[in-house]
Amino acid sequence: MRNENSAFNRSAEPLLDLAALRADTPGCEAVIHFNNAGAGLMPRPVLGAMLDHLRLEAAIGGYEASAARAAEVDDFHASLAELLGTRPGNIAFAASATHAYTKALSAIDFRPGDVILTTRNDFVSNQIAFLALRKRHGVRIVHAPDRPDGSGVDVDAMAALMRAHRPRLVAVTHVPTNSGLVQPVAEVGRHCRELDLLYLVDACQSVGQYPVDVEEIGCDLLTATCRKFLRGPRGSGFLYVSDRALAAGYEPLHIDMHGARWVAPGHYRPVATAARFEEWEFPYATVLGCAAAVRYALRVGLEPIARRTPALAGRLRERLAAVPGVRTLDGGPAPAALVTFTIEGWEAEPFKAALDARGINSALSYREFAQFDFADKEVRWCLRLSPHYYNTEDEVDAVAGAVAELARSAR
Ligand SMILES: Cc1ncc(COP(=O)(O)O)c(C=O)c1O
Repeated sequence: MRNENSAFNRSAEPLLDLAALRADTPGCEAVIHFNNAGAGLMPRPVLGAMLDHLRLEAAIGGYEASAARAAEVDDFHASLAELLGTRPGNIAFAASATHAYTKALSAIDFRPGDVILTTRNDFVSNQIAFLALRKRHGVRIVHAPDRPDGSGVDVDAMAALMRAHRPRLVAVTHVPTNSGLVQPVAEVGRHCRELDLLYLVDACQSVGQYPVDVEEIGCDLLTATCRKFLRGPRGSGFLYVSDRALAAGYEPLHIDMHGARWVAPGHYRPVATAARFEEWEFPYATVLGCAAAVRYALRVGLEPIARRTPALAGRLRERLAAVPGVRTLDGGPAPAALVTFTIEGWEAEPFKAALDARGINSALSYREFAQFDFADKEVRWCLRLSPHYYNTEDEVDAVAGAVAELARSAR
């Protein structure tokens, strides 16, 4: 039965109470927000947790406020552990997904000739980080080939490369920023586990959109932000570190008094948990906002979210594909809620500005975000529309209608 009194899904019923969810989301009144892959609209409990804490800091002092809210602060780790199927001690707060990712990379003692095996669709900043490691440490970067139908990495070919190169690191982005492609991270993970290879997953666009289980994926390290499909605040992210990686002694290059104990003048000892990847100072209001966002997602339910969100995007993709002059770009049998397309007769910025003027939030991706993917697709730029579960079918149709009108006006 549908729950009429709450925004949350407390039963196995897949329907979400959209009216309540939208009433919980102040931004819904002002815009059609189809930029959840940029930053999701924060629901009231997230905003409330942050504002309350800032008020408390102003009233009693920053250190005193974090002490007073210690249990809620701890819930950052506990809630994410619940979301990802792990324990609080395997989670570290980070200032962004990229911050988490570079901290993780800094823990690996790369030697000249070491191989990083990755994909052609891994996130732009990750690719730049690999190139920087090549420049400084002489690592080799190997990109596994894609399947010819554009449906993502060829896992068999990737597994063969694992056997041939014994990479120091295998790195896969679950859903890239520049398309709705969903990479088979768990299949890759099975090979990594079989061959005992260190495996890092960028789940920035999938956490909050799908159930993401670190055991099922078989990764050692996983990074994401809280601001996208989790609907948390900006300036937040996290790193999952497996027990395996902790026991093997992985620690960030720059470790501080929170991540380690200075046990003797010439000696420090990293703490036992993933806290060794954190720093002493936290933006506590942000941390509390993240915990509220994760609790919110858990209450709404990841299964219903994963049913509704890509389905809404599918409806949008279908409508856009029917518009003359529009070319949709997302590969794979079941793309995520990132709908990317080109439109004839428009340049990137004026097209986005025309959507902005209609109260529709969107984002642009450029060739430099996706050197391999956009070269394959022969595109210089595309527009990205990313709905979330709290968006409506009417909004999807209104957005598709606006794109159709703009396409007509350019012909
Ligand atoms: C797939 C992917 N990975 C990583 C990031 C980087 O996240 P952040 O901006 O929090 O560093 C993004 C951001 O768009 C992303 O889409």
